[in-house]
Amino acid sequence: MEGERILEAGSGAGRFTEVLLKTGADIFSFDYSIAVEANLTNNGNMPNLHLFQGDIFNIPFPQESFDKVICLGVLQHTPEPERAFRSLARHVKPGGELVVDVYKANFLSWLQWKYLLRPVTKRMNKDKLYKFVARVVPILIPFTRFLRTFLGRAGARLSPIIEYTHLGLPSEINRDWAVLDTFDMYSPAHDHPQSLKTVKRWFSEAGFDGTDVQYGSNGIVGRGKKLA
Ligand SMILES: C[S@@+](CC[C@H](N)C(=O)[O-])C[C@H]1O[C@@H](n2cnc3c(N)ncnc32)[C@H](O)[C@@H]1O
Repeated sequence: MEGERILEAGSGAGRFTEVLLKTGADIFSFDYSIAVEANLTNNGNMPNLHLFQGDIFNIPFPQESFDKVICLGVLQHTPEPERAFRSLARHVKPGGELVVDVYKANFLSWLQWKYLLRPVTKRMNKDKLYKFVARVVPILIPFTRFLRTFLGRAGARLSPIIEYTHLGLPSEINRDWAVLDTFDMYSPAHDHPQSLKTVKRWFSEAGFDGTDVQYGSNGIVGRGKKLA
């Protein structure tokens, strides 16, 4: 991919930036938050990285100027996921590709603890919420592990926290990941999951062809090629 220009929207601390940089393409990576500082620490040594703080609704580049645009783990956390998608789509060159994912919405997803509790937790002071999560999660890890052992993945979903004992992590790392990901679930101001049908419509209305939209590990994963 050397010589290509890839735009990464909402890069966070840069775990996917690291992978993109290995393609040899020029990576234009941005995030709304100071997570860009963490990305700089993690990937700032790479000469093909162009990192900046920015907003998906106001991308500071001409339209149709990227060979590929990628946005993972972000759309549901914007106030208007469809408008955010359209903003990304506008920046793909004719013949270029767009890859996104978004949390999935269906009847079962609305029954998750996070959607029951978020009306309260998303309004809480973030420091207080984090302290609360850091206190409660370690207590609930054995209970969640018990549910997973006897009832599988569905059982683990009965718990209001996320934990990763099944991955065989050392217990301290599992505790840290559980605290961070549980906080990540309850704290965002926005969490707007989408249906498969909606994401397919987004791609077709934005002029993408050869679209592949399906359920994946983070909900719905979609990719498509912009009509030349
Ligand atoms: C769950 S994180 C995902 C980060 C990264 N893509 C990853 O998977 O590790 C969501 C990211 O979207 C960013 N974000 C939210 N709204 C944004 C916006 N309007 N423009 C750019 N980034 C945004 C947040 O700051 C956060 O870093």
